[in-house]
Amino acid sequence: MVRVLFVCLGNICRSPMAEFIMKDMIQKQGLADKIYVESAGTSDEEEGNPVYYLAKNKLDEYGINSSGKVARQLKYSDYDKFDYIVGMENTNIRACFRIFGGDNMNKISRLLDFTDRPGDIDDPWYTRDFDTAYSEIYNGCDALLKYIVQNM
Ligand code: 4NP
Repeated sequence: MVRVLFVCLGNICRSPMAEFIMKDMIQKQGLADKIYVESAGTSDEEEGNPVYYLAKNKLDEYGINSSGKVARQLKYSDYDKFDYIVGMENTNIRACFRIFGGDNMNKISRLLDFTDRPGDIDDPWYTRDFDTAYSEIYNGCDALLKYIVQNM
């Protein structure tokens, strides 16, 4: 089983969108017994809260169910539990390094760096642009899934 953990700041917008978009792709490609996906946030600000309603609405628009998910904070023990730890932006990457005390297994990466348009996914909590966030996250997940399958 390949284990993937998406990481953002609050775990109520970008990383849950990535989690459920990726799970949908995995399901559709018949890979559900091979790839396991979760998400977490580097801050404890939103701990226990559901997916933010505008992120949930965007997922619903594409027929992707995200019910039941509640935010949780990234923890030290996640490093051993996951093979791919994938942040949305550089700030998340730096926070991952801080929480894990490094990255000796080279597990940490940034989602859009798997695409031909590397960069940060801006936080829709601040931009209010959930369309851009959705399409960037979708493209990132598509590229990441291809990478994982090629390297399985
Ligand atoms: P996310 O967005 O990191 O994509 O989940 C945020 C959600 C909440 C906050 C920041 C970012 N906040 O500060 O409460």
